[in-house]
Amino acid sequence: MSTAKRSGTYNPAEHGLAKYFLSMLDDKDRNVKYGEAIKKCIEEFETKEQRKPRVLDIGIGTGMLSSLCLLHGAAHVTGVDVNSTMVGLARASLKALDPTGKQHKVLLVRPGPSALPPEERFDMVVSEILGTLTTSESMFKYVSIYRHHLNTFGADHKVYAVPQQTTQYAALHRFSRQDLGEPLSAALEVALHLNRDAFGRFMPSNEGGLALPLYLWKSELVGGKRHAIHTESYEALPPRAEGQGADGGGGGSFVANGLERPVVYEAETLNTACDEDAFVLCVLEWSVKLWGDVKLDNTLEAYRGMPLRNALARASAWGFFIADVPSLRSGVPRRAPLTVRANRMNAAAGQGTPELVIDGHRVANVCEEPAPYVAMAADADAADRLFEALKALRSAGASAAAAPVRSSPRIGNGKRKVDEASLPGSPSKRACKSEPQRVQSEPQRVLIVNDTTAGKLPFEAAVLGFDVNVVNDDQLATEAGKRAVEALAAAAAPSSEAKPGRISWHVGRVATGGAEARKTRGAFMPSKQYDAVVLGAALLDEMRDDKHRLEHSKAIVDRWSKTRKGIPEPAQLHETDHAFDRADFYKHSLPEAFKGRRCLAGVEGALRALGEPCAQADGGAPFATNDDGLVFHGVHTVRIDRLYQALESPMEAPKAEETPVPRRETNGESRRRSRIKTSSVCASSADRSAPSDEPSAAGAADADEIRAGVRECSAKLPDGEESLAATLEAFAKLLNSDDPRGLQQVLEQSVAKLSRGARSAVARATYLGVKLRLRREAPKRPKTAAA
Ligand SMILES: C[S@@+](CC[C@H](N)C(=O)[O-])C[C@H]1O[C@@H](n2cnc3c(N)ncnc32)[C@H](O)[C@@H]1O
Repeated sequence: MSTAKRSGTYNPAEHGLAKYFLSMLDDKDRNVKYGEAIKKCIEEFETKEQRKPRVLDIGIGTGMLSSLCLLHGAAHVTGVDVNSTMVGLARASLKALDPTGKQHKVLLVRPGPSALPPEERFDMVVSEILGTLTTSESMFKYVSIYRHHLNTFGADHKVYAVPQQTTQYAALHRFSRQDLGEPLSAALEVALHLNRDAFGRFMPSNEGGLALPLYLWKSELVGGKRHAIHTESYEALPPRAEGQGADGGGGGSFVANGLERPVVYEAETLNTACDEDAFVLCVLEWSVKLWGDVKLDNTLEAYRGMPLRNALARASAWGFFIADVPSLRSGVPRRAPLTVRANRMNAAAGQGTPELVIDGHRVANVCEEPAPYVAMAADADAADRLFEALKALRSAGASAAAAPVRSSPRIGNGKRKVDEASLPGSPSKRACKSEPQRVQSEPQRVLIVNDTTAGKLPFEAAVLGFDVNVVNDDQLATEAGKRAVEALAAAAAPSSEAKPGRISWHVGRVATGGAEARKTRGAFMPSKQYDAVVLGAALLDEMRDDKHRLEHSKAIVDRWSKTRKGIPEPAQLHETDHAFDRADFYKHSLPEAFKGRRCLAGVEGALRALGEPCAQADGGAPFATNDDGLVFHGVHTVRIDRLYQALESPMEAPKAEETPVPRRETNGESRRRSRIKTSSVCASSADRSAPSDEPSAAGAADADEIRAGVRECSAKLPDGEESLAATLEAFAKLLNSDDPRGLQQVLEQSVAKLSRGARSAVARATYLGVKLRLRREAPKRPKTAAA
């Protein structure tokens, strides 16, 4: 992928399957909670009204919510949607559940006024037109359009609605800059803070913006809580007051309340939370009361409590709007309180996206400008591997050229600080002559085309002694790179020999020939021969099977590399058939109610909708799993998810009721008990100060399960994940020892390593992904008489 900006806004009325659908359907927690809420709502209705409800599903989509209503006992469901593909999909889904069509109706509608017959009435309404903000897809407006069709119940004019209430929050989260690291901190600053005409901007954390799995880094809620900035309630429709005129149907309106006063953070609270290492982000989180005590949370905390696959799915479909609060990062104590205000939260008028004012400065929403360099900056694994390749090349070069090491740092736009040691006849040069190991030779040169590491690789290359030329086609990625290099250089120990050499930055596209250079605006023609050419763009494009770009990349290497070799060396495209367990893949995220039912409401339905039309022609339409196609990270990260489970299960505190009655034990059991004790020490991480001395059968079961999990995980680890394999091996060995501290340490390291691996995997899945083609199952051959 080029690092150039890509843009696109989502229009629900467009034909086709919206990008986020697969992710949304893979959000098991969402599906299960909607299932629970619908079940409870229908049960309450049946108990109170002694009949089964007729339901209206607004934005029926794949038909999942309507299917849940039928499965939980609704008399009839009517679904409306503005998207014709979704209507087709919902019809297919519901037909599988209700083949005679007596219990369902699906209508394609316009976003405007209700097209249902005015006399049509429903007992219950379900909807999920929630976005990154509860307000951003205008659910309030669209549900309100249908309020005249809703029956109300009792003196308080109750409405059976799932959801009942939505609450939009603003929260300040403190991340540690050290934990985020460089270049990610710099990339975030640039993406969120740099703006030509305003103080800052806020962007979604999903693929429409930062594409960053922020929940994989630790954060603390500043002041210990989040603040409600907007609420919507669908619980009642009281009749209109006299004189306001009849409105038909259920009468009045649902209630939406915007923030009246700004959220205020006192200076004292901020000073306790924000030190020099703080990186404070304003995160717009939300919580929805689906029915009674069934809540659906879109908060960083909720993501951290989910299996990774679920968190990924939700992060791709929803994620968070995020704004930077630079004034809390200076390390200078604050005197004045900080205020956060959200304007334009009038949901009824369709003003779904707030205008944030932080500390008196307007923060603009620029969600139409994705910042792929942020996701790339989170892929520490890619940066490490590129660095390893460069280091290998450097050592090869160094052995040939007596290890040249620069002693004077030079950073900047080609402006070179005079390096005394390199001047002919200078005193330093003469002094060097007496120290053979410090002889300075011509530095090796590297050309980095479209740096995918947001400055990390240029910095490390410079530290290795290379002269570095970086050419990006993205101004902001360049800005992020420069900032990261400054921060990295500032953080390096002053006494360290490892200081950056010269880095020069250019914005433009590298052209291979004169004609192309003339054609391409801003084309950059390097003037030198390089010892290495790092092709960030090629690394990405080869994966994407973009032949033209691949050739362009090869031409760059041919023209400017002395060795005719680039990093990465020519990549190979592989085509592999992956078999997924149908139940695990398709049905994984469906609520229990679907068990054993023929229905297409889940991922299976969506994939079919996507694959079937082309299937007849060429065996299925290929599509990318990143945001160029459909966002579906779950597939790639299931493996990491399993590893997490294997490692995390012993961290759960053993349940008291599972402690067995003590009994006599055999020698074998005694040995096992000592192991269990080991595992229960680390098991009680929630209360490490008071580890239980009691042997625990639950612990034994856990330990066996973990061992099995570790074995299974190790067996499944593909090449290239040696570090994880080694960690797991060490972990497995320690399970058999009596060293609880060692085990604890290995566990912690493992989880840290895994979360680093997960961050890289998620980041890479976002900017790279793979191309998928659904293979149709081979048609079954008719059995011959002989067979
Ligand atoms: C987030 S999806 C939810 C789909 C489904 N209810 C589910 O939970 O799986 C929202 C759906 O609402 C539809 N939609 C958006 N605006 C709408 C409107 N004004 N009227 C009807 N449908 C709308 C979209 O086309 C999309 O299918």
